[in-house]
Amino acid sequence: MEILDPDTGLPVLVRALHVLAGVAWIGLLYYFNLVQVPAFAGFGDEGKARNIAIDKVARRALWWFRWAAVATLVLGLLIIGVTENYMEGFMSEESAYGLGHNGAIFVGMLLGITMAANVWMVIWKNQRVVLANAVNVLGGGEADPNAAGAGRRALLASRQNFIFSFSMLWFMVGAAHLYPGAFDADSSGKAWTFVIISVVIGGILQLNALGKLGGTAATNKLLWPYESHKNALITGGVLFVVLYVLSEILLKA
Ligand code: HEM
Repeated sequence: MEILDPDTGLPVLVRALHVLAGVAWIGLLYYFNLVQVPAFAGFGDEGKARNIAIDKVARRALWWFRWAAVATLVLGLLIIGVTENYMEGFMSEESAYGLGHNGAIFVGMLLGITMAANVWMVIWKNQRVVLANAVNVLGGGEADPNAAGAGRRALLASRQNFIFSFSMLWFMVGAAHLYPGAFDADSSGKAWTFVIISVVIGGILQLNALGKLGGTAATNKLLWPYESHKNALITGGVLFVVLYVLSEILLKA
């Protein structure tokens, strides 16, 4: 059907909107990780300037951030819905778009969906507490003793999303532009192995960021990847190299 043609039809528009929303989301994720968190730390915990900045700047940034995440997720899933035969033979040797493509987009999507869940279920849930506390303290009220813990949980999830983002973007873009053809897997077993190993590694990182492997205290050595944006950059780089090497071995013919 012409309208569902991946190169000329509706999928082109949906992909363009998806990329736009994705750039808005991940751009703000990078702003939080590389600019806002280090800058706000300079205000000190109880500073009035910090609470004003949380209320006036972070509140706006979080609005765009969480809705851009929803838009990206919905438009991403819509690409599948509007592209002809997208799921035909998915992850099998009869795949319409090839096993290399399928393995790459599967991992890219799983990372993206996990990140969107982190935005709403961890980051936003906890940032609401931080925002409410800032307004309350600015109005002369008592500081909420739970605000620091909530901020910490949001920070860990945000840095985990930062870590995931490099690999997510690589496999998202690579699905259409790098992995089909040159990197096609020769058996669905190899493509599945790539997906399963990626899920195990990503799952361990995710559980760790949620504090399920030893708590969220700064003294927990397992949380090294999240203790600074530099550590998160290094961890994200290592994760990317590991998944890239795996994809070379398992998604290649
Ligand atoms: C949240 C979950 C996400 C889902 C379910 C999703 C889904 C998809 C799908 C199905 C495709 C088409 C891949 C193909 O077969 O060529 C795609 C492509 C793409 N996505 Fe995502 N995506 C998500 C997140 C993101 C994010 C956060 C970004 C950040 C910018 C992003 C950027 C892209 C790009 C650049 C492409 C390639 C477009 C093209 O080559 O035409 N996606 N995504």
